Amino acid sequence: MPDVQTAAQRISQLRSQIDAHNHRYYVLDEPSVPDAEYDRLFRELQALEAEHPQLVTAQSPTQRVGGAALAAFGEVRHEVPMLSLGNAFAEDDLLDFDRRVREGLGDLLPAADLFGGGAPVEYCCEPKLDGLAVSLLYRDGVLVRGATRGDGSTGEDISSNVRTLRNVPLQLQGEGYPAVLEVRGEVFMSKAGFEALNARQLASGGKPFANPRNAAAGSLRQLDPKITASRPLEFCCYGIGQVEGELAATQVGILQQLKGWGLPISRELKKVEGAEQCLAYYRDIGERRSSLAYEIDGVVFKVNDIGYQRELGFRAREPRWAIAHKFPASEELTELLDVEFQVGRTGAVTPVARLKPVQVAGVTVSNATLHNMDEVARLGLMIGDTVIIRRAGDVIPQVVQVVTERRPADARPVHIPEQCPVCGSAVERTQLVKRSKGRETLSEGAVYRCVGRLSCQAQLKQAIIHFVSRRALDIEGLGDKIVEQLVDVGLVASPADLFTLTYEQVVALEGFAELSTRNLLTAIDASRKPTLARFIYALGIPDVGEETAKLLARALGSLARIEQALPEVLTWLPDIGAEVAYEIHNFFADSHNRQVLRQLLERGIQLQGEGELHAEFSACTTLAAFIDKLQIPFIASTGAEKLAAQTGSLQALIELSQDWLSLSALKGLNEKARQSLRDYFANPANVAKACLVEAQLRDFGMHWQSQKQVIQGLPLAGQTWVLTGTLEAMSRDQAKQQLEALGAKVAGSVSARTHCVVAGPGAGSKLDKATELALPVLDEAAFLERLAELQANE
Ligand code: IVH
Repeated sequence: MPDVQTAAQRISQLRSQIDAHNHRYYVLDEPSVPDAEYDRLFRELQALEAEHPQLVTAQSPTQRVGGAALAAFGEVRHEVPMLSLGNAFAEDDLLDFDRRVREGLGDLLPAADLFGGGAPVEYCCEPKLDGLAVSLLYRDGVLVRGATRGDGSTGEDISSNVRTLRNVPLQLQGEGYPAVLEVRGEVFMSKAGFEALNARQLASGGKPFANPRNAAAGSLRQLDPKITASRPLEFCCYGIGQVEGELAATQVGILQQLKGWGLPISRELKKVEGAEQCLAYYRDIGERRSSLAYEIDGVVFKVNDIGYQRELGFRAREPRWAIAHKFPASEELTELLDVEFQVGRTGAVTPVARLKPVQVAGVTVSNATLHNMDEVARLGLMIGDTVIIRRAGDVIPQVVQVVTERRPADARPVHIPEQCPVCGSAVERTQLVKRSKGRETLSEGAVYRCVGRLSCQAQLKQAIIHFVSRRALDIEGLGDKIVEQLVDVGLVASPADLFTLTYEQVVALEGFAELSTRNLLTAIDASRKPTLARFIYALGIPDVGEETAKLLARALGSLARIEQALPEVLTWLPDIGAEVAYEIHNFFADSHNRQVLRQLLERGIQLQGEGELHAEFSACTTLAAFIDKLQIPFIASTGAEKLAAQTGSLQALIELSQDWLSLSALKGLNEKARQSLRDYFANPANVAKACLVEAQLRDFGMHWQSQKQVIQGLPLAGQTWVLTGTLEAMSRDQAKQQLEALGAKVAGSVSARTHCVVAGPGAGSKLDKATELALPVLDEAAFLERLAELQANE
């Protein structure tokens, strides 16, 4: 063990190194050593301190982890009161503020020009951070106390908590700082820190925070500083309180001094002259607001000259020398008048908040989505409640919180309707199917659905809008309004009815004339030859998006196979889980859907590109995988492999499991597994199901073969391509489709794993990256040539 003196020297050396790294990392945002090196220094310090506990001081960086929990916070009296700021909402308010400042300073201001305009006042400008005000007291450079603002004259002692903030120096750097220095600033949480914290909260079953400010306040006011230490809090200095010693004569000068002593200040700090430049700063920050790493609710202007600040003094609890120029609020309070239910394309019945109209960030909001009933429960929402509405950027307004204190006595709970508000059919809660160990368990989903399907006008309209949309059948000119009109007048009761519309029927509709009618009918006619994938997507099967539709089309090759596929067979396809498999199966099992499908084919839909069962599918079925998928208790994948090797077919496996003698001769399976196998096939329902699934797999052209041959059938199997720039001969979507048909994956970004990049004119960073990584790059002509070659060979 090193002697105490050597240890003390090393400890002090380590502390300064760690403090310097912390400062560079958390304050300057310019890390100078890799994390591993930092961790090494930190662990060395921890070890030395553990050996020599008498050398541990409160300033040591190891002490940021948070000490013992408190029973309650102590009180702190602010020697210099912590005040608040007056607000400017409009530009005129700011001009008035500047006029008041200049009037207040009167003769102190030098005359500007011959016309007596008065010299412009210098202002210190900063963003107004949305967190909570905190005071930090340094004596002889050592952090001795941290406090909240409280009522402005008395706050809470949160010393143990502020010590855990990584960018709060426990010891000031350099020299020349006043003997007593109280700095003031905002503790806040960055947007990224907030998202990460909420993700953690949700993952651990906790309640997410409504916004970064609540999260910061909740994290700082913890009696257990270990909790605070685990939260991504940051500090930013914007001023001073009590001081014994000399400081610079201007606001900006003081902030620069604080920065020099290791305290974090705003990167957006700027000195300007006069009100016009203040407004320019406000607009500039306003434009960059969404790209800042943290939330702000305005900017703060302070008269820069400290002498002028003294001269101007205070009015009530606000300085006359500073003002907050606020951005239009993006959160407002309003009343929840009612909750109505909307029915979507797949029948999902979604609660929508009807609100007393309120201006939020310059827009009148009277509706907000509530997502689903779980969200209603999470918010604890009742009709009549006062709620907080948030509108961020262009995002749909959201209800973020209920102000429970304002709940009226006659508030009513929100109930999901038992009948669909549009068609009157039953509304049922969706079930989530989970299959494990051969058993299916059902749990309740968050979504409620109207069971009316296409007999429900709401679903019908949405289904048809989806059916004709660009990525589905792409019927040009058949917009939402026309679809609604066709459904409302009763001309269209299913997608199939689109194909029997006549000239007379359409031309008689409001808003249609001869030409528009002909155009619509021509567009409908032109849509009769979709690819199988587009058609499957167009059907609007719940949970089947474009990618799943493509997969189904590619793997199963025909509408007939997709229609008949058993859920167990569908789960053989990559990325199709039990739930989606059931959705697909149920969709095609529905007699109304079957009828519409039949009609579509009768009325002239001709699917393109139907073909054989794909290698991708036939090759991924092995007997071992089949046995594994049966989910027989105690038989995992290795057990399944052994069984497959020893039996060779399902029939042989069933026979063997029913014969105790051969069963006991099985190699590599323990007693429990053997018994489980016997029990499983003793149940006739299991035997029937397994045989049925096997029969279908065989029927679909599957043959047991080695796993190694998987997906080898296609020329570009296993390759990842990237498309960038513009192509002339085809759209990027079409190029993507063709590549996928050849087995390639098409990715959005270039990496070392990319096989080939197709770059048209206008290609930018992706092409640069490809060149940097020396990847093969094809121009459009070369790409078309390669496609033709591959397609010819397939
Ligand atoms: S100066 C006497 N500057 O806004 C001046 N405050 O509405 C006191 N705030 O309590 C405050 N960013 O929590 C100032 N750059 C900034 C600020 C700021 C955020 C908060 C602070 C204060 C509140 C006043």
